[in-house]
Amino acid sequence: MTQAQKLQMVAGGVANDPNLNYSFPRGAGGWIPGIPQLSIPALYFADGSVGVGNGIGPATALPASIASAAGWDTQAAVQYGTVIGTELSDYGIDVNLGGNTNLTGREPRDGRTFETKGEDPILAGKIAAAHLEGVQAQHVIADIKHFAYNDQETGRATANAVIDERGGRESDLLAFEIGVKDANVQSVMCSYNLTGGTYNCENSHLLTDVLKTDWGFTGFVMSDWLATHSTVNAANAGLDQEQPDQEYFGSLGTAIQNGQVPQSRLDNMVHRVLRTMFQVGLFDYPQTIQPIPAAADAAIAQQVEENGAVLLKNSNGALPINAGVQSIAVIGSHADVAVLSGGGSAQVQPAGGPALTSGYPCPPCWSEVVWDPSSPMKAIETMAPGANVQFADGSNASAAAALAASSQVAVVFVSQWESEGMDLPSINLTDLTDATPIDQDALVSAVAAANSHTIVVIESGGPVVMPWLSQVGAVLEAWYPGQSGGPAIADLLFGKTNPSGKLPITFPASVSQLPRPTIPTPPDSTTPFDVNYFEGFNIGYKWYDSQGLTPLFPFGFGLSYTTFSLTNSAIMNNLASMSNPNIQVTLTVTNTGAVSGAEVAQVYLGLPAGIGEPPHRLVGWQKVTLQPGASQAVMIEVDENDSSHPLSYWDETSGAWTVAPGQYTVYLGDSVGALTTVGTFTVGS
Ligand code: BGC
Repeated sequence: MTQAQKLQMVAGGVANDPNLNYSFPRGAGGWIPGIPQLSIPALYFADGSVGVGNGIGPATALPASIASAAGWDTQAAVQYGTVIGTELSDYGIDVNLGGNTNLTGREPRDGRTFETKGEDPILAGKIAAAHLEGVQAQHVIADIKHFAYNDQETGRATANAVIDERGGRESDLLAFEIGVKDANVQSVMCSYNLTGGTYNCENSHLLTDVLKTDWGFTGFVMSDWLATHSTVNAANAGLDQEQPDQEYFGSLGTAIQNGQVPQSRLDNMVHRVLRTMFQVGLFDYPQTIQPIPAAADAAIAQQVEENGAVLLKNSNGALPINAGVQSIAVIGSHADVAVLSGGGSAQVQPAGGPALTSGYPCPPCWSEVVWDPSSPMKAIETMAPGANVQFADGSNASAAAALAASSQVAVVFVSQWESEGMDLPSINLTDLTDATPIDQDALVSAVAAANSHTIVVIESGGPVVMPWLSQVGAVLEAWYPGQSGGPAIADLLFGKTNPSGKLPITFPASVSQLPRPTIPTPPDSTTPFDVNYFEGFNIGYKWYDSQGLTPLFPFGFGLSYTTFSLTNSAIMNNLASMSNPNIQVTLTVTNTGAVSGAEVAQVYLGLPAGIGEPPHRLVGWQKVTLQPGASQAVMIEVDENDSSHPLSYWDETSGAWTVAPGQYTVYLGDSVGALTTVGTFTVGS
């Protein structure tokens, strides 16, 4: 390759774009031109955290990624990635800028929570790895982002994450480590923010020491869009490709001539990009632009939602709704025609176009609010063909309450829009926005006062608080349910499908329980400001444990229409060696109720006292589907050789994962809030 050809591979191409609109061929958000003399094809980049993004469409609007995480099912999560990879490939896109693996449990008001996989590094890492694997199997380069600590949108370009090495290695970095190692993901996007005072796209500790050296990452690091701040520092720190333009790497040739960046660094950048293209199969499997498999993918979208919606409350048999019911009031959130989706670069243009859109008073807005075209009300009518189903839009609480009073059952849909580029002002449903210009808490209370058989369906990207919880019969967290959300929700409400999702993120009782009750804000748009992650690895449930706080709903929680028992639990191989501790937890899961359903057996570990670890660390789980009365023997492996380092802690002195000698306690349960002790085992003498 000539030097010019090499340089072309490492900086986004700005095509016919004097105004820097980044409108590239094929609707891509990023582009590296091909080199026909060498038969190197162009690279087209597009978003896709919850389906094909960048305005390319029509595409399948999957449920939010956090719904996939709530399924606790890595096989199903592979399918989620398969949909994204297949559809990107069908649009001629080679690189998927999906894979948001930031641990938003640190800041559940983060406007990108819906794109993430929750608060636990091992669950998030495993679900992310499954998505990435599904994408790359379609010969599309997957990407894990935003590396690292891009945990709030407020001041995201100048926020400086302050965290100790052990805290980071055992939390945000661990989720990325699992994604990188398990999926062999071939691209990593460094984020806008700083860590320890250095911008992440020129942070040699993150990019070279941690990612490339410690984790053995063989792919390439690209910058988030306009997240590069230098030529020499960024190149020498380990950035391999600037996106989406050549602002800094346009001068890379000069920096090499001047001896500021070694030629070997450029050669390595190009090697990483080309090697990735060979590894993922871009040379061997040229793409065919063709229509997406819309019907098959819509069915997968529905399964993801049915697997990931979480039943949070169900008292006095409020759910499932009896199909013979005579009248149902459907209230709020445009549930007559649509379900809500998340905004920003992850926004999907759903098949058939949005059911409706609205603006949002947040200048500058990333995107308008898109309501996906799937009607819960129509699906409810299908499930209850004899019922008189009527709709109230919720803008008038008294009118909604009157409709509820004259109906046998009231189903209130509440929603909270979130988007890249903003954080939520609160986790209350009282906030008035263009998406939801009403006090939805007051609406629920008014309806519940009028009808004791009131069910609440929440469409949100993360936790909300529920001041009306004691007044309603049932609550279903549906997340952003995607373009098949209407039928999925109706199937769940009527018991055609039994809910089996479990929370991948703690629902706080109030923001006062969070490590930072107020989101740190920047002094101006250019000066870096500290976001102090003093809680270290104590994210989510680990934070609540450390503070003795009781949240509204704990991590791992989710109800079913049946009941389960977890019995006969035991630890095998409990004389674990120091060098390779490896235990198995065995148990029997039994469906003790009257309908079929699925349970997630969750195993948590308490490490030896004195090393400062949280009392409970999720180390393994298994989702089991059972007919009524049926049992299944389950074995959950907890192997230190796994990428999740389940039995060790990060030792700052040796700079390595270290197994502490001492006594370990194994816990089992169906949420972190309901654990029983299986037993203990000892490592070392
Ligand atoms: C986002 C990335 C996205 C990129 C390209 C940025 O604003 O942070 O997640 O991949 O834009 O659209």
